Amino acid sequence: MHKVAFFFVISIINLSQTIANFAIQSINSYMINQYIQENKERFLSELMDLLKIPSVSADPKFNDDVKATAEFLKKRFTELGVDRVDIIETKGHPVVYAEKIIDASLPTVLVYGHYDVQPADPIELWHSGPFEPVIKKTEIHPEGAIFARGACDDKGQMYMHLKAFEAMLKTDSLSCNAKFIIEGEEEVGSENLETFISEFKEMLTADVILVSDTGMIANDVPSITSGLRGLSYVEVEVVGPNRDLHSGLYGGAVANPINILADMIASLQDENKHITIPGFYDDVLECSSDERAEMAKAPFSEEAYCKALDIAETDGEKGFSTLERATIRPTLDVNGIWGGYIGEGAKTVLPSKANAKISMRLVPNQDPEKITALFQKHFESIAPESVKVSVTPHHGGEPALTPVDSLEYKAASLAMEESFGKKPIPVRSGGSIPIISMFEKVLGLKTILLGFGLDSDAIHSPNEHYGLYNYYKGIETIPLFYKHYAAIKK
Ligand code: BES
Ligand code: MN
Ligand code: MN
Repeated sequence: MHKVAFFFVISIINLSQTIANFAIQSINSYMINQYIQENKERFLSELMDLLKIPSVSADPKFNDDVKATAEFLKKRFTELGVDRVDIIETKGHPVVYAEKIIDASLPTVLVYGHYDVQPADPIELWHSGPFEPVIKKTEIHPEGAIFARGACDDKGQMYMHLKAFEAMLKTDSLSCNAKFIIEGEEEVGSENLETFISEFKEMLTADVILVSDTGMIANDVPSITSGLRGLSYVEVEVVGPNRDLHSGLYGGAVANPINILADMIASLQDENKHITIPGFYDDVLECSSDERAEMAKAPFSEEAYCKALDIAETDGEKGFSTLERATIRPTLDVNGIWGGYIGEGAKTVLPSKANAKISMRLVPNQDPEKITALFQKHFESIAPESVKVSVTPHHGGEPALTPVDSLEYKAASLAMEESFGKKPIPVRSGGSIPIISMFEKVLGLKTILLGFGLDSDAIHSPNEHYGLYNYYKGIETIPLFYKHYAAIKK
């Protein structure tokens, strides 16, 4: 055959294959969406059942419930027809691991999520029981939202992955192998998960990590999280006299640990809200002006932000916008402070000690251990002779950046574009998920942070909720990620 004719025929064959693939993919997407529609109610009632179990990882009182939640998930995975599902014990709460390998030559998606939740306190501020999920309409969620602890963080978002997987499997359109690692200790710092992933490195072989445990800008402004802050968390104690004293007899002559602690904390930031700990900013990877200009394009209303929080104005580090302060800049915040008399009425007392819990949100490339050490050294150095100061480190976590120029990101972007009808914008987030940097270090894998929550969903707060729109949109978008990822990797 003539060379040109030969290439012509080959191109026609390739083209028709591409068209056929495209047609199959479209039919699959159609069938998946139909399956989701048909099973909508059940998908919701299963999530409600999951939300009824109070899997608070921080409080040993709930240990049995944490266990029961792992069992619940194991059952759901078993019903789905995975090849393998195990509850794997750790030194702390167990990990639920499941997998379905359909074809070793296909790419493997490793889904990570957490089934533990934050404590529900303060309970009196909830309008309905934190573990009695109810659906209510809100201004932002006119089609309804589920109210319960963990609704968005992370049970609702994690469970979308099981239902998306079910929809793909039941319509014969699973285009990647799937592995799931659902942990029970994210809200307490994932301290045993690093050992776990090192120990089970073989089992966790995959091509990409997929996580829905973050948010997006708004339901009509899809976005993909491109980075997370890290965390250093410490508890401090200031001790003065060996007993509580009469504030009339001793006041003015003996150092008051609460006054001293307040002074010390205040001195940790200067008048520009710049943190004063020597060396604190040394490793900060500054954002380029290009990246900052890109960020500034994200829709953001300072007025709406203040109004939603009932504050007259925002406040933070000089020289940075509100969005920048909350995402690309490191911070120092007191999370709790106590000491002295806090009962009814007035008691005149000069307390013997004062305590505070302090968090520092970190950005690439700050190292939590190094920052904790710098804090400790500085805090001890500024203590006056009149008191004794001690610093106790708690769990921390490393910051993470997820590249926006990778094949994985491209697949996620196409998936969101297809389901939302709009190209998502990459945005850095201020929250932390400690294990993400470990996935890269230990497994050598990049993560896609495909989150569907909204900042207004009140995660960690009373009346946490998750939009039904977001739940179903997530279930619809996840299979599109698998589809585009498989196509790109071909
Ligand atoms: N899912 C959140 C983190 C998050 C929320 C990231 C929204 C981005 C957007 C996670 O469960 C969480 O709460 N992490 C903790 C850290 C952990 C060490 C307790 C946090 O950020 O405080
Ligand atoms: Mn979470
Ligand atoms: Mn959380």
